[in-house]
Amino acid sequence: MTVQQRIQENKREKNGVILAHNYQLPEIQDVADYVGDSLELARIAARVDAELIVCCGVRFMAETAKILAPSRKVIMPEYSAICPMAKMIDAPTVRSLRMKHPKAVFIAYVNTTAEVKAEVDYCITSANAVRVVESLPEGTEVVFLPDKHLGRYIEHETGMKVHIYEGFCPTHSRILKEDILLAREKWPNALVVSHPECNQGVLELSDHITGTSGMLRFCSENDAREYIIATEQGMLHRLRNETPDKIFYSPSELNICPNMKKTTIAKLLHAVETETVEVTVPEEIASKAIRSLEHMLVG
Ligand code: 13P
Ligand code: SF4
Repeated sequence: MTVQQRIQENKREKNGVILAHNYQLPEIQDVADYVGDSLELARIAARVDAELIVCCGVRFMAETAKILAPSRKVIMPEYSAICPMAKMIDAPTVRSLRMKHPKAVFIAYVNTTAEVKAEVDYCITSANAVRVVESLPEGTEVVFLPDKHLGRYIEHETGMKVHIYEGFCPTHSRILKEDILLAREKWPNALVVSHPECNQGVLELSDHITGTSGMLRFCSENDAREYIIATEQGMLHRLRNETPDKIFYSPSELNICPNMKKTTIAKLLHAVETETVEVTVPEEIASKAIRSLEHMLVG
């Protein structure tokens, strides 16, 4: 029996479901029941019937699944897979920012810990950030954390005044404006599609800016045949798989998220065999974080 077959067999026996983020290794994406962006995976976790949710991604995604599906067992094949951006802000910092901006609406990126989600009013992902902020009454004072690039992008798109925190994604920050200029020279017919976590120089040179699943929608609906994809490289596997008639290029070789790549097929098999490592969220944190997450699901 292959590793893939053993994973499927164990999963079926345990009434499990495998969720994988768009940045996961190709072999993980291929064995998963659902592959998606942060918002899609959260929505699936909230409604899925399975008793065991296997989260192939980074820790904040598994915590989010656990908060939204508290009666399910949530496991991660690699517990140490943590988004470094999510570690750039903690709950005491949010509380002190609240003292500084007492009238502001606090919005956190989903790439945050459960403790931070428990302190804010709204949670958003790259897929619904602009929509959620646009739905706030005009003139609302907004504090957005922790991603400064996404924060600036939201401010630019909505015209709202946004107080921005200084967090960033180390992987997207490695894609430089110079990489896009070179890629455009190399592939002059390709459209540049970028994730809003990229720095401003990259975003300014882009034809389209969107989250990971938005990239899939854009590239499959657009008439262009070639695309330069400015995000983590795992996304290229999803795009190539689902739109085989199109051509995708990476503008850099450094856009690999080491934490997203920690989940291997051997670790996934071990996880479904042993039902480990379980991810839990303390009840007092989960009961507060669910409020900001529910806004995210409908936003
Ligand atoms: P998406 O929600 O667009 O998939 O992004 C998640 C993420 O971690 C981006 O780096
Ligand atoms: Fe975090 Fe960036 Fe990795 Fe996404 S790509 S999980 S934001 S470090």
